[in-house]
Amino acid sequence: MEAVILGSAAGGGVPQWNCRCAVCELARAGDPRVAPRTQSSIAVTADDEHWLLVNASPDMRQQIAATPALYPRHGARHSPIAAVLLTNGDVDHVAGLLTLRESQPFKLFATDATRESVDANRIFSVANPTFVPRITVAMDEPFEPVPGLRVEMFAVPGKVPLWLEDETLKIGEATETTVGLDISADGRRLLYIPGCAEVTQAVKARVQGADVLLFDGTLWTDNEMIEAGLGVKSARRMGHVPMSGLGGSLESLADVRVSRRVFVHINNTNPVLVSDSSERDQAETSGWEVGYDGMRIDL
Ligand code: MLT
Ligand code: MN
Ligand code: ZN
Repeated sequence: MEAVILGSAAGGGVPQWNCRCAVCELARAGDPRVAPRTQSSIAVTADDEHWLLVNASPDMRQQIAATPALYPRHGARHSPIAAVLLTNGDVDHVAGLLTLRESQPFKLFATDATRESVDANRIFSVANPTFVPRITVAMDEPFEPVPGLRVEMFAVPGKVPLWLEDETLKIGEATETTVGLDISADGRRLLYIPGCAEVTQAVKARVQGADVLLFDGTLWTDNEMIEAGLGVKSARRMGHVPMSGLGGSLESLADVRVSRRVFVHINNTNPVLVSDSSERDQAETSGWEVGYDGMRIDL
């Protein structure tokens, strides 16, 4: 199995178009300590012929252009992207479907809830259902979206997409609105969890023994956005467990047995993005890698 991190940032990317936080300003200035990053997506294959795209980011066009393995290879029209799978309905994970128009066949997999939010937006019919069948997948049931890859979706603590929030909002329930993926091939396991509001015992049990874990690295502290004067919501309110602090991912995943652990979906305010920061040092000392665009993972 091979995986490529196409986009390692959270919604907005690095730098974010309207943001003057310290990290965005460094990225904009071309400071070598902060690599620019595109929005959240990975691609995975077992045979190098058929790739599964997990989440379709608004930066999809740029991500494909930066990834020769995803270039068309046969005939007049072709794509190695044979399937797309959505882990939730957030804009940073679905807007790229608009880039994948042009009547190119691929299969689109999602939970019932996420599929409903795609179905409800008519603009997504540009990914013509005649060529792009939408396939609903149940929790905890293995399926094979591309040859040789076995995938199981599991619910993790989360919430509905930001654009669907209303007065009935509940945060932290593990439902099919936010899922993680347990991907395996040839006895190797990759766990992908780009959004997770809390590291519960169920999450830990699922991750246990994985060869590689790609995990929600949105914010460093719970009140990072508030303290920077950039928002009113905590990390947990946004459906993302912070890295540091009590119950943070560094602490709560410390005793889980995983060969390699990598942060993805990293928000531009997160100081781990600065290569010489004390936070980067702390994450790496705790055994984590900070994911970057184009990072290849062979398993
Ligand atoms: C998130 O991960 O919290 C969302 O992508 C936020 C958003 O839609 O901008
Ligand atoms: Mn997001
Ligand atoms: Zn910023």
